[in-house]
Amino acid sequence: MALYSEKVMDHFRNPRNAGVIENADGIGEAGNAVCGDIMKIYLRIEDGIVTDVKFETFGCGSAIASSSMATELIKGKPLDQVQQLTNKAVTEALDGLPAHKVHCSVLAQEAVQAAVKDYYDRVSGDVSFTQR
Ligand code: FES
Repeated sequence: MALYSEKVMDHFRNPRNAGVIENADGIGEAGNAVCGDIMKIYLRIEDGIVTDVKFETFGCGSAIASSSMATELIKGKPLDQVQQLTNKAVTEALDGLPAHKVHCSVLAQEAVQAAVKDYYDRVSGDVSFTQR
C-alpha cells in the first residue's frame, strides 16, 4: 500500500487556497519545534462566516496537504464550526496520514484555531485593526 493516499498527493501537488489575504480579519500561526515546520492561516470573515481563507506553509508535503484540506473544510462555514475543526477531521478528509505524519495535521488545527482567536481578539478590541 502506498504511504500516502491519493488525496494527500493531490493536495500536496495542487494545493487549494495557497497564498495570503491582505488585511485579513484573522491570522493564525502554528509551528512544530521538532520538525521546524510552520503554517499560517489567513481568514476573511463576513457576518460570522469564513468567506475566504488562504494559507502559507513552510513545511513537509503532509503539512501542505493538511493546510490545503483544512482551508477546503472551513471555507463558507460559520465561525463556531470552524473553531471546532480537529486534526482528526483533516486527516480523515485526506483519507489518512502515516502515524509519524499525524502531527502535520495538528498544525492545521492549531493554525485555524489561532486565526479564529485572533479574529475574536480584534473584534473585542484586544488588538487594534489599525495595527496590521
Ligand atoms: Fe512536521 Fe510535517 S514533518 S509538519
